[in-house]
Amino acid sequence: MTVKVAIIGAGLIGPRHAKSVISNPSTELIALVDPMPTGEATASDLQTNYYSSVASLLASPHRPHAAIVCTPNHTHVPVAKELLAGGVHVLLEKPVSDTLEKGRSLLEFAKAPEQAHLKLLVGHHRRFNPYVRVTKSILESGSLGRPIAINGLWTLYKPDLYFAPPTDWRASNETGGGVIPINLVHDIDLMHHFFGPIVRVTAEPILPQRSSPHNADEGAALTLRFASGVVGTFLVCDATPSPHSFETGTGENPLIPKTTTGGDSDFYRIFGSDASLSVPDLTRWSYDTSPEKSWNHPLTVDRIPLPDNKAPFDLQLAHFVDVINGDVEPSCSGEEGLRALVVCEAVQKAIRSCQPVDIDVDLSKSD
Ligand SMILES: NC(=O)c1ccc[n+]([C@@H]2O[C@H](COP(=O)([O-])OP(=O)(O)OC[C@H]3O[C@@H](n4cnc5c(N)ncnc54)[C@H](O)[C@@H]3O)[C@@H](O)[C@H]2O)c1
Repeated sequence: MTVKVAIIGAGLIGPRHAKSVISNPSTELIALVDPMPTGEATASDLQTNYYSSVASLLASPHRPHAAIVCTPNHTHVPVAKELLAGGVHVLLEKPVSDTLEKGRSLLEFAKAPEQAHLKLLVGHHRRFNPYVRVTKSILESGSLGRPIAINGLWTLYKPDLYFAPPTDWRASNETGGGVIPINLVHDIDLMHHFFGPIVRVTAEPILPQRSSPHNADEGAALTLRFASGVVGTFLVCDATPSPHSFETGTGENPLIPKTTTGGDSDFYRIFGSDASLSVPDLTRWSYDTSPEKSWNHPLTVDRIPLPDNKAPFDLQLAHFVDVINGDVEPSCSGEEGLRALVVCEAVQKAIRSCQPVDIDVDLSKSD
């Protein structure tokens, strides 16, 4: 069966998802929804039906089986609930919500008997990125030994236009804007994917570089503790020209040029008891060819090849179809998405309090 998919929200990311839907032989782009007048022109460019609201879509002859929600963070929960109530499977862009309370209410809603047959996935598409898949398989193979620590960077410069109306929701903490829920949430999800849940964070905020009305967090230096015992440090900042970020290192976002300097743009360094790995240059450092494991010997350097470079959005969509068909469980469920949001909120709490914040791995208990 061809899965009819609607895209909700035709801003920066909606059309990219729409193109994946068009290119997948198992899916059909049935409609695009956006209240802004520009939405109609985008729908026309994509040769699909246009609706100005989810309600009008659901009342139309173009009812979808599934939808990808690409609206501002503070609108995710009401939009996703309306779709689920209308019998539509949902792939919800990250983060789940702008607040934990709303995020939890969505998960409860999705579990209710009326909706329980429907799928809710969160769009942490980087789990499908080839650099991430290789890193995960290296960790799972045990080739680094026991994981000990991660050192990460997400440092980039966002121009003023990124925060200007109508996308000024990105400039306010109140609407789920700022670098923590928009960008760091991706890295948190990946670190959960690699090492399991984070249980404690501390944060020192960076000096703000933007003036009022911009009130969203611009970055922080973090320490992280995972339930597994792994520890991490992470620097996040959206106000500095730098090559050290997932986007510049992997080139996965066509709007953000990939750096050409390879290893100079690393954004993760992962340390294990037998070897360490830097990403995205996928360089593994060990004493494998030395007579003993000792700092007195030269390190062995292995470059691990990247097997393929399939677009993560396309792979995520194919996975969404497989989940809808009951073939696999979601890679990033609503719970996993909420887990990343819990850590974002803990980071923001730590930024305000300058105190360590503990996180309960039992999602129902975190506040
Ligand atoms: N996975 C990724 O790499 C990635 C990248 C960028 C953005 N995102 C996420 O995607 C979402 C959208 O981000 P963006 O940068 O495209 O935002 P944007 O502001 O550019 O676009 C959002 C669009 O949603 C529309 N909209 C608002 N309320 C709506 C509603 N109720 N129904 C339908 N449309 C509505 C707006 O008019 C706007 O056109 C955010 O949650 C963001 O965090 C994810």
